[in-house]
Amino acid sequence: MEVSSVCPDRTLPAFGTVLGIDIGGSGIKGALVDVSTGALLSERAHLATPQPATPEAVAQAVRELADRFEFSGLVGCTFPAIVQHGVTRSASNVDKSWIDAPAQDILSLALERPVVLLNDADAAGLAETVFGAAKGVAGTVIVLTLGTGIGSALIVDGRLVSNTELGHLQFKGDIAEKYCSAKAKERHSLGWRTYSKRLNEYLAHLELLFSPDLFILGGGISRKHERFIPELKLRTPVLPAALRNQAGIVGAALVAAWADASH
Ligand code: BGC
Repeated sequence: MEVSSVCPDRTLPAFGTVLGIDIGGSGIKGALVDVSTGALLSERAHLATPQPATPEAVAQAVRELADRFEFSGLVGCTFPAIVQHGVTRSASNVDKSWIDAPAQDILSLALERPVVLLNDADAAGLAETVFGAAKGVAGTVIVLTLGTGIGSALIVDGRLVSNTELGHLQFKGDIAEKYCSAKAKERHSLGWRTYSKRLNEYLAHLELLFSPDLFILGGGISRKHERFIPELKLRTPVLPAALRNQAGIVGAALVAAWADASH
């Protein structure tokens, strides 16, 4: 299901408890979410993403994670790739066999109920728009998740432009996420100062392309935002994701609730 078709109006009220699952290149996490507030109603469950992250292995892991919650209601799920009409169209940090796979159907089959699937950064962007740092912000907001890769959500006057993949822009001779994702920091043993400089270069490039009104930085590394956000020298204000690394879980749950309400 396409995000734009499930949330034609982001003010559409969402009620109830939904299981949000966030599939990443390194970890799969999930929690029950109160979709009217964005609050987590359970502990977060976490599993390492199986390697190789094939459709079969990931589906099995998602089933295992979901089974930890005694919950048979709605499920929303994210995936770290382009997700168009339930089909995954790329596979940067997962097994290549996800390219053109009917991912939403695969996960729905594994969980024995309809699952709504969307890109992980898009989910984070929606959660930040409804409950977090982008709430009520007019104009252009770019939410980036800095993790194994770099995910992006482009939000214009509260509406999401899905699957923007700004982490895959060509930058410094490769794609940007190889230069300044959290994993790149780790892989190249970059200190905070060098990392902040790299991130600043990339954000300045995005600034040139989009003239955004706000950048929001999420992903696990955003827990340490005070180490790098104050180092950034940009025209555009930069905020840490208010929902930190839970934004994907919350956004996934929210979109599943919207999809259900629009039926
Ligand atoms: C993928 C994106 C994803 C991001 C964060 C990138 O490599 O191409 O779809 O949002 O990683 O997981």
